[in-house]
Amino acid sequence: MIRQKIVAGNWKMNGSKESIQTLISGLLDMDGSNSEVVIAPSFPYLSQVHDLIDGSNLVMAAQNASQEEKGAFTGEVSVSMLADFGVKYILLGHSERRSLYGETDEVVASKVKTVLGFGLIPMLCIGETLEERESGKTLEVCERQIQAVIDVVGVESFAKMTIAYEPVWAIGTGLSASADQAQEVHQSIRAFLAKSSESVSEKVQILYGGSVKASTSSALFKMPDVDGALVGGASLDAKEFIAIVKTAG
Ligand code: PGA
Repeated sequence: MIRQKIVAGNWKMNGSKESIQTLISGLLDMDGSNSEVVIAPSFPYLSQVHDLIDGSNLVMAAQNASQEEKGAFTGEVSVSMLADFGVKYILLGHSERRSLYGETDEVVASKVKTVLGFGLIPMLCIGETLEERESGKTLEVCERQIQAVIDVVGVESFAKMTIAYEPVWAIGTGLSASADQAQEVHQSIRAFLAKSSESVSEKVQILYGGSVKASTSSALFKMPDVDGALVGGASLDAKEFIAIVKTAG
């Protein structure tokens, strides 16, 4: 099955009105791409980005959302609010949310359910720490993180989701997984889903994330089970991000 590639930029807690204006105008100079190009600004800038990308092929993601639909949850942002600003994807379970803000597999699964309920697309982030990799637990961790979501929304829901495999040891460290290492895990994730649904496993787009740069992305994108990238640091530089998008074809 041919799966369209997705190249997504996770800006994390970076940017200002001015820098975002400059970054987007750089991105708007990009030639047409066969991949879907996604950008994930911080909440306060969604409105600005929404207006700036209007009429272009760029698509917006949010970096997080509440699992609650609405109400007395001070400081939280609901999925319906994000939908109001034209957000298509929502990153869920990013390792920074899991490790710094205590998001458990159960919380992440509950967020997935809420996002699907509003018709938006969860980008479910999973991945192992260095310690887990070194003790041979990479697949066990990825499968546990996926199973927690299957338990709540069912495997069929993965046909309406994307997965980002982001080894924690590769995020923001400059240490990218090799293309072969990424392929091995992506293939195993697909095989794990295939045990419950062959068609879902073939359809779901699995992105790789962790220190992706233009110098590493073309090898990653040649891998049959790597359907794109979730890019952090390198997505803050329009030229570098465009160069990554180009390698995706
Ligand atoms: P990085 O971040 O590209 O800066 O490693 C990736 C991510 O956290 O999504």
